[in-house]
Amino acid sequence: MREKLLWSQRGVGIAAQDMKTIFVAGTDTGVGKTMVAGALAAAMRLRGARIGVMKPISCGGLEDGRFLMACAGTNDPVRFVNPVALKHPLSPNVAAKLEKRRIDLKAIDSAFEYFKNKKYDYLIIEGCGGLLVPIRENYFVIDLIRRFRAETVLVSRAGLGAINHSLLSIEALKNRGIHPRGIIFNRLNGGELSVPEKTNPEVVQKISSVRSLGIFPFMKSCGEDCLGKAFLKHVALEKILC
Ligand SMILES: Nc1ncnc2c1ncn2[C@@H]1O[C@H](COP(=O)(O)OP(=O)(O)O)[C@@H](O)[C@H]1O
Ligand SMILES: [Mg+2]
Repeated sequence: MREKLLWSQRGVGIAAQDMKTIFVAGTDTGVGKTMVAGALAAAMRLRGARIGVMKPISCGGLEDGRFLMACAGTNDPVRFVNPVALKHPLSPNVAAKLEKRRIDLKAIDSAFEYFKNKKYDYLIIEGCGGLLVPIRENYFVIDLIRRFRAETVLVSRAGLGAINHSLLSIEALKNRGIHPRGIIFNRLNGGELSVPEKTNPEVVQKISSVRSLGIFPFMKSCGEDCLGKAFLKHVALEKILC
């Protein structure tokens, strides 16, 4: 209770009556969805919210779900955190075909129900790959956003290439009537900010009218709390939650 009060007093947002869902989408694979989703979970946890995490479909390992759980401080059964776990590090439709199986959307729905019943304040969901990665014939990662009635946060790499990938992803979202809360530009390298890293957020924001939520720094050997603090320092959490 005290924690929930703290959460609202700080003006970050009020602990949800019903669980709210945030879908962390990426412009591509390897752009930092897991890193940023984990840091977001850790940041919200530091602010006193109860956070569940989910990686509905994994391809090639269970690490993402495990990392997200460590950041959220939860220990939910892997079959709910990661209801569809495919063996091969390939696009889900291809990975499923190799295993001679069809991706079970009902298993994903049941896992989502599990989280709703746990009465978390927020559920943070990490997509897999970019938005138009196919799950089944004519069903894509982007379609999971509607399925969960989630708010979307887009993660883009911070450097060169981010403008094109961000704008393409935003166009795909808008074509489906989805307006993302904002974009987080994630740094995959350390050192001084390069010119694209400095200028991309404003360029993308101006062209797309989707706001930049901040540049998430390159983090070396950083635990959950350290990631959460970095998120609170560099990313506008209140704009994700309001
Ligand atoms: N901000 C960051 N600082 C340091 N390393 C990062 C950062 N973001 C991502 N990485 C590293 O880059 C790789 C890809 O990131 P990951 O979050 O797994 O991407 P995705 O989930 O989009 O595939 C991982 O090895 C991860 O640890
Ligand atoms: Mg990932």
